[in-house]
Amino acid sequence: MTFTSDIPLDPSLYRLDPAALEFFQQQTGITEEDDLKHHILAVQKRVFAAASYPCIYNFGFTSLRISRHPKYQSVLQLGRDHRNPLLLDLGCCFGNDARKAVADGWPIIRIVSTDLRREFWDLGHVLFRSTPTSFPSHFIAGDCLDPAFLSSESVHTSRSPPDLSSLVSLNDLHGKLTAIHASSIFHLFSAEQQASLVRAVAALLSPASGSIVFGSHVGLPKQGTIREEVFGMTVDMYCYDPESWNKLWEAAGPFKTEAVLKEVTTPNGEIGWKMVWSATMTTKS
Ligand SMILES: C[S@@+](CC[C@H](N)C(=O)[O-])C[C@H]1O[C@@H](n2cnc3c(N)ncnc32)[C@H](O)[C@@H]1O
Repeated sequence: MTFTSDIPLDPSLYRLDPAALEFFQQQTGITEEDDLKHHILAVQKRVFAAASYPCIYNFGFTSLRISRHPKYQSVLQLGRDHRNPLLLDLGCCFGNDARKAVADGWPIIRIVSTDLRREFWDLGHVLFRSTPTSFPSHFIAGDCLDPAFLSSESVHTSRSPPDLSSLVSLNDLHGKLTAIHASSIFHLFSAEQQASLVRAVAALLSPASGSIVFGSHVGLPKQGTIREEVFGMTVDMYCYDPESWNKLWEAAGPFKTEAVLKEVTTPNGEIGWKMVWSATMTTKS
């Protein structure tokens, strides 16, 4: 689901906590808080005009989501322990989470970010005032629901390490990922699409024990459909509950699963649920 909306943005929602402020100051080189705010609001406006996601309206891209995940520190440890670790950020938008992982030590050339829309990645360079030379991390555009881009079948069988600079699709990465981050993306899809995406993402993970997929998105105490108004449009969002979500992963491979619901208050003051989850490979390669 993509929205386009001409509703006015609300700058009062802009808020950087101390960790986010430090990160954005470091990344952009803009140390003056007012200048930084002005810069972030300008980029937000450009993106929102093209794709009016609530998380762009709400400044979700400044929340350092990846580093708030309970598995983040152990994921960083995987990056230190492996000779050739590989991290994928699915639905990366501006690439803020990849940049956070790099800032925290994950090798920059061992990350692949992917999104339906290349312009978000390009705007990431505007947001973070970088260039493909100064931030030479890999990006590949594509539709994660398209089997030609991401399939649960093992389309490619090469045992050799993938050439990350010339990826054609995520299928080139089957069985190669040490860690996969997927935040605020699954809830964009129908129940069936989410289940199929779980199988496809599971196929990307290395079969080595400890490889992990982790993320967060909207959940419910009992799976079902939330109907809500988003920028004047009625939207149905299918949400799994932790138990049914874990079952999807357990059916997709030998995973140890963890999923919890956290109560959140939406910007319009309503109570909602965020599901924070992970699935860790348990077999030895
Ligand atoms: C709500 S944003 C989440 C961004 C980021 N992961 C975060 O947590 O802040 C959802 C992202 O998923 C991308 N997306 C939506 N549908 C997609 C698809 N079918 N394939 C790949 N990416 C998709 C959007 O372009 C957008 O950047």
